[in-house]
Amino acid sequence: MLYITILNFMIMYRSRLKKNLNEITLEYVSSLFDDAEIAFYDIAGSQAHVIMLYEKKIITKSDAKKILVALERLKKEKFDKKSDSEDIHELIEQHVIKKIGMASGGKMHTGRSRNDQVSLDIRMKIRDDINLLCQCLLNMIQTLVSLAQKHQKTIMPLYTHLQQAQVGLFSHYLLSYTDALFRDLERLYVTYGRVNESPLGAGPIGGTSIPIDRQSTAKLLGFKGIVENSIDATSTRDYVIEYVAAVAIIMTNLSRLAEDFVIWSTSEFAFIELPDEFTSPSSVMPQKKNPDILELTRGKTAQVIGNLTTILSIVKGLPSGYNRDLQQIKPSIWSSSRIAITALIVIKSMLEKINVDNQNMKKAMEGGYLVALDVAENLANNGIPFRTAHQIVGNLVKTAHISKKSLEKLSIDEIKRSTKGIDPKTIKKIIDSTSISSSLQNRISQGSSGISEQKRMIQHRMDKINAYKTGITKRGNEVKTVFSNLTLKVKSLTK
Ligand code: ARG
Repeated sequence: MLYITILNFMIMYRSRLKKNLNEITLEYVSSLFDDAEIAFYDIAGSQAHVIMLYEKKIITKSDAKKILVALERLKKEKFDKKSDSEDIHELIEQHVIKKIGMASGGKMHTGRSRNDQVSLDIRMKIRDDINLLCQCLLNMIQTLVSLAQKHQKTIMPLYTHLQQAQVGLFSHYLLSYTDALFRDLERLYVTYGRVNESPLGAGPIGGTSIPIDRQSTAKLLGFKGIVENSIDATSTRDYVIEYVAAVAIIMTNLSRLAEDFVIWSTSEFAFIELPDEFTSPSSVMPQKKNPDILELTRGKTAQVIGNLTTILSIVKGLPSGYNRDLQQIKPSIWSSSRIAITALIVIKSMLEKINVDNQNMKKAMEGGYLVALDVAENLANNGIPFRTAHQIVGNLVKTAHISKKSLEKLSIDEIKRSTKGIDPKTIKKIIDSTSISSSLQNRISQGSSGISEQKRMIQHRMDKINAYKTGITKRGNEVKTVFSNLTLKVKSLTK
């Protein structure tokens, strides 16, 4: 008897096909391993569907009850990835039928298809991942802003082309990543709206004659609406592309930050020291303290970019409707989420313990002519055309560099050679009154390294954190409530 049942299951979807897949072909075709990530969502989606089938009087209460109980039990079971099913959808239906029999269990899949089902599961999974990522981003932003608050007076050189450019502040640097990560957060925040639409009930591609209610399942699962067109609902993965692209952008931001920190932690720079627990040793060189975590952030970013490329390549040439190629998208999504979530957690914890060497940052500016632009601007503020001022200071730097001295050590005679008709004494006075600290005091343009701007920006970003906190917590709670309400509904229907 048992033998017959098992045999039946093996051919559950294969009634038209005379032979089963052999072991190696099954493994080639199966997505069961990757489907572990959506098992929970698949069960929840099926429960919502069954509740709707019952409420629309498409199946009886008794059938619905049996299916719901079987599904609820499955939530607690470990899935055997070694199964004859091709995917989680088949496996779950198989389990339900095995437990309660074909007469009731066989009704679970009425009015839907695996094609809407798989997209539904992916959407619910991405929805949760977005909420988690938003939370991680917000935590990281908070850490950056707190660190910026501590380093509002930590002077450092700013670089372009990796050459010293202007005098700056470490807080300003940290706030630049704060803003980049805020954009990442905003991007995910709006992507959520496009992910949070239900494809359930679209059927294989053209809908169904069974009088299902797509709006009701969407509501039960917390979606803000449905992906209306059933061809679109089953074919599109644009929401996946959008999500993974947003994740790839997060990673490129983290990767750039990682690169700065790799450079700054070298003994040549020594601007920062990484905490021991975030570095790796060498197997031979006892002195080594390698920034492996930062390097891996760069490496894993490449992986996420690869994931995005994989997904785009799968989608770009597909004809409309479901095609099995789409199955290969899933591991790229899971991998991208996992990488970005852990990267944000790890880098945030590392930042909290980083040692910043104010002295070395300041020392690096010695002999760097970093105030050159400030001198030129001070000349410009005295009515000299900026282009002339630029030429004067350029010449002064050249003279100073040849005689290996700083600008303020230049004599009146040396200055005379490059005055372009301006009184050398005026130039000397301006050079003498221009220093690193005056430069930072006078930098008043909005968003600049100026001291006053730091204070303003920090306060503004702190308010922004609080505003987002409310929205993100609310969204997370909404999804949690949806799933607990669904469980409650299942309970009340099955008692
Ligand atoms: N395992 C499939 C996937 O992940 C589910 C959909 C299968 N649909 C089909 N018609 N074969 O994409």
